[in-house]
Formats: sequence, C-alpha cells, structure tokens
Amino acid sequence: MKKHPQTNLVHAPRKAPQYISTVQPPVFRASTIIFKNTDALFNRHWTDAYDYSYGTHGTPTTFTLADNIAQIEGGDYCLLCPSGLSAINLVNSCFLSHGDEVWVADNTYGPNMEHLRNLETRYGIVVKVYNPIDANTFQPSAQTKLIWLEAAGSVTLEFPDLINLVKKAKQANVLTALDNTWGAGLAFNAFDFSSEHLSVDLTIHALTKYPSGGGDILMGSVVTQDKKLQQQLFRMHAIQGIAISGDDAAQIQRSLASMHIRYTQQSNSALTLLHWLNKQVEFAQVLHPANELSAGHHYWNDVCKENLSAGLVSVIFKPKYTMQDIRKFCDALQLFKLGFSWGGPISLVMLYDLTTMRALEHTHLQQGLLVRFCIGLEHPADLIQDIENALKQLQIKIPN
Ligand SMILES: Cc1ncc(COP(=O)(O)O)c(C=O)c1O
Repeated sequence: MKKHPQTNLVHAPRKAPQYISTVQPPVFRASTIIFKNTDALFNRHWTDAYDYSYGTHGTPTTFTLADNIAQIEGGDYCLLCPSGLSAINLVNSCFLSHGDEVWVADNTYGPNMEHLRNLETRYGIVVKVYNPIDANTFQPSAQTKLIWLEAAGSVTLEFPDLINLVKKAKQANVLTALDNTWGAGLAFNAFDFSSEHLSVDLTIHALTKYPSGGGDILMGSVVTQDKKLQQQLFRMHAIQGIAISGDDAAQIQRSLASMHIRYTQQSNSALTLLHWLNKQVEFAQVLHPANELSAGHHYWNDVCKENLSAGLVSVIFKPKYTMQDIRKFCDALQLFKLGFSWGGPISLVMLYDLTTMRALEHTHLQQGLLVRFCIGLEHPADLIQDIENALKQLQIKIPN
C-alpha cells in the first residue's frame, strides 16, 4: 500500500540486519520499546533483569555495560545510575530505614557523609563514624544495618583495615558496601580480597572516573553477587525512576577497552611522583597507600597484591604555608588544572583544609593544608617539572 510522505518520514524503510558484527556494540536510544505483538506485551516481566519493556528499565546497550562492570568488579549483578553519588544514594535508600544505624569512615567521600547526615536529620537514621585504620573503632550494635567502606579513603588516602572491618561486619550480620571507585575493580577484587576469600556485599563505583576516562561522562554502578540484594536494589532502582542514557553507556563501554592500560599508567606515574614528592622540603607529609609512612600502608600491601594504587597522591604542606601561599602554588601550576574528579587524561589539583573535613582526631595526619594531585596521562617528568616550577615561586616568597 502506497503511503503518504508524512507516514514514510516516520516509518523508515530499512532496518538493521539482525546480526552485524562491529567493534563497538550498537547504541540503542529508547524511552519507548516497541512490543512485537500483544502476547509480548502481556508476557513482559519487568522484574526480569533483562526484560525489554521501557527505556528506564534498560536496553541492550545499558545491559552490555552493566554486565561488563559486574565482571570487572568480580560480581554477578550490576545496576547503572546517572552518577556515582546516585549509586550511593540507591544503596542508602534501599537498605536504611528509620532507627537503623549506619557506620561510615572518617575519610568517606564527603557527599556520601552529607547524604547520610541528611537522612539522619530527616528520617531518624543514626550515623556513626569510625577510623578506617583501626577496626576497633567500628562497634556495631543490634541496630547496625550497614557499614560503608572506602579503599583508599577520599583525599587523605588511608587504606582501611578491610579484612578486619569486613570480618567484624559479617560477625554482626551488618551489610558491607564498598566505594570501589579508587580500586576500579583493578587494584583488588572486592568480592574476593583475602586468603580467606572475604567479600563485601555491595560495591558502588563512580564510573565517572576510570571507566569513563575522559572527564566528560557521569555514571555510577552498584554491583553485588547476592541475588536477594540485587532484587531489592532492582526494585528501588525501578521505583525511583533511575535511568541512564544509551549514548553515555556506549561512551563508557568504548573506554573500558583501554581502562586497564590507563589505570596502570596512571598508577605508575603516581608512584614516580610519590618518590619525588617525598624528597621535597615544603611538605610535612606525602599521602599515598604505597608510601611506607602512610597510614594503612600494610593493609594496602595485604590486599592490593599487584601493587596497583590508582593515580592519586596528596601532600600536606608544612604549617608555615598559609592558604594564600597554597592558592598561589595551585594557580602557578600549568599542566595540573584546578578541578574535582579524577581518572581523566588531564592531571588535576585540588586544595583542602582538613580541619573543616574530619570528625575524628587523626594523629597520623600532620597539621597543614592539603593538596591532592590526580595524575592524568601526561608524562610524569613534565608533571614533576610543573610542580617544581610552582614550588619555586613559593620558596622565593617564603624563605626556609
Ligand atoms: C570516591 C568517590 N566516590 C563517589 C564519587 C561520586 O561520583 P560522581 O561524581 O559520579 O557522582 C566520587 C566523585 O568524586 C568519588 O571521588
């Protein structure tokens, strides 16, 4: 039947062949998914993880990425979220109810702590803080539902006593959720990280960092091996309308092929910088899990068997340097750009005042302002030169 041009514009004459082999999988963009017939419509099972019924539920593009992330992290199930923080939010809103207690490390990613404090005020969830390098400070009670772990922790990069914290949580029947962004599933296997095959229950991962690798896409994931946990998460994910774009998923899928190479390169460059930073007189402390003097170094050694350690290094400047001096230092850097996030091609720098960030007394942390370097894909010699130049400016103004 000949159709009106208006209809022809809507119904394209050519469909892609059912199977065509390309290096990257095709990108499906969908809010609507078209059912083959009414049988397919009435037999759909939206509770089936791979059901195709509506865009928020998923498409072959998003399911491909989710399976890939689950595999990288050593888990079985993965749900994708629009950002790392929304993945954290999914875990908190799924497993915490009024009266429950949740434990977070003092060096937990700041917005997670802020999110939990908000739940505390509004929904009566009790937030307790522990010291990640001292498992004795984690004291679960009958109300404790969840412990957040982060290895290494944000900004100050202490590697936690993961083995004893997880053992203690398991004994107390407390759910363990690890922010796995730093390890990215490459530095250690969160679902099998000790000789006793200890495993966390859940990981969240800011795919925004290493999986994206471009500094341009936001996404997060929640991974588990436990079918029951997955079913709970799946329901919460669906009723909250959490969805990601097929284009973003395809971009991250494309970057995964180079992730191990990028991660290893950035990890090695960070080590080169670490050795050089350790020798500079301006710093009271250099913080990195591979640094023998850093808190939690031996826990890192026990868990990260291949000695991988991401691309982050922090320094604490001697207390004589004021905020104004540190700002001058940061502004003098040419290759390191001022910005949050990490895992992208461009090296980044960020400055922090720890006195406004930490709840517990951290005796291992020296006084002074902190600068975090996120190592990109530049040659480490150029990055060292950049820091050296910026430090020289500082030395002229502040003689030792
Ligand atoms: C350790 C860690 N977890 C989670 C997140 C949140 O990721 P996103 O920026 O995708 O929300 C970040 C972001 O900086 C992070 O550093």
